Amino acid sequence: MIFAGGRKYVSLQKHSKLIIFRLSDMATNSLVSIDDISKEEILRILSAARYFEQNPNHKLLDGRVVATLFFEPSTRTRLSFETAVNRLGGRVIGFSDPAVTSTSKGETLKDTIIMVSNYVDLIIMRHYLEGAARYATEVTDVPILNAGDGANQHPSQTLLDLYSIYKTQGRLDHLTITMVGDLKYGRTVHSLLMAMRYFNPTFRFVACPELQMPQEYKDFCDKNGIAYTEHTDFSEAVIDTSDIIYMTRVQRERFTDIMEYERVKDLYTLHNSMLENSRQNLRILHPLPRVNEIDRDVDDNPKAYYFQQAKNGLFARQALICRALGIEVPAVNNI
Ligand code: CP
Repeated sequence: MIFAGGRKYVSLQKHSKLIIFRLSDMATNSLVSIDDISKEEILRILSAARYFEQNPNHKLLDGRVVATLFFEPSTRTRLSFETAVNRLGGRVIGFSDPAVTSTSKGETLKDTIIMVSNYVDLIIMRHYLEGAARYATEVTDVPILNAGDGANQHPSQTLLDLYSIYKTQGRLDHLTITMVGDLKYGRTVHSLLMAMRYFNPTFRFVACPELQMPQEYKDFCDKNGIAYTEHTDFSEAVIDTSDIIYMTRVQRERFTDIMEYERVKDLYTLHNSMLENSRQNLRILHPLPRVNEIDRDVDDNPKAYYFQQAKNGLFARQALICRALGIEVPAVNNI
């Protein structure tokens, strides 16, 4: 064992070079917003994700228990986090439906978090309220990983997105990224935009007026010197000059007016024929689930990368869990 900063770490002496996920001035390594972590930390997490892609079954969580508290539906995020814990040799408790918990009897989020903190070493939480994950960090010392809070942030998705971009492009710098669809409520595009500030991107925002990128994120671009243009047309000119096209689902669950959802839900659909003159290196990403925004005829195009992207989530989340628990991860070549 290695002891550092009063905390105990699993030693991996057989590996000569180690990445140490530890923020020395913090009691825990929660991840609530992608804005909470530096460029160096992002790159270390991506390097660790690469390690886990090569070594998915590494029993680093022996004796650890992790809770997955999902107050909103999920397929990929919950199952990949739970798979990550299992592949790391830990145990998982939790729920995917708050209706079967004492929340349905009126128990508050605060009390729920305090209770679960009695049992586990780490809490992974998705909640429909923006700010819920931040609030959770204020009522417990157990680290919190935000698995999505309302329309706000989805930082673990961002890390798998960055890993996918790096794997497909060979770099993160100087890429033209086109975000399409629901840019208002899509938390994945908000997190990704913020993380890309370190990598000199050019953004294209393609959305109808009702679902445009919120002003606060455009202000963020301005403040960080990030170039962006806004479009209502998903045109050939935009597609053919993109390195990444990031499609998004219109988030029905965030609309208060269902008629407005019906009006905008099918405005942007990517078809295979639209990719005819696209760049060789173009890759199509989508956080999934998709509804109608990517036609099934795109799935067999080698530029379609959304299913592999979801698979990358397992490795990125293994890295994040280790970071949260202060567990050292052997290094592979740095990203
Ligand atoms: N991308 C994503 O968050 O998918 P799930 O809602 O299925 O977890």
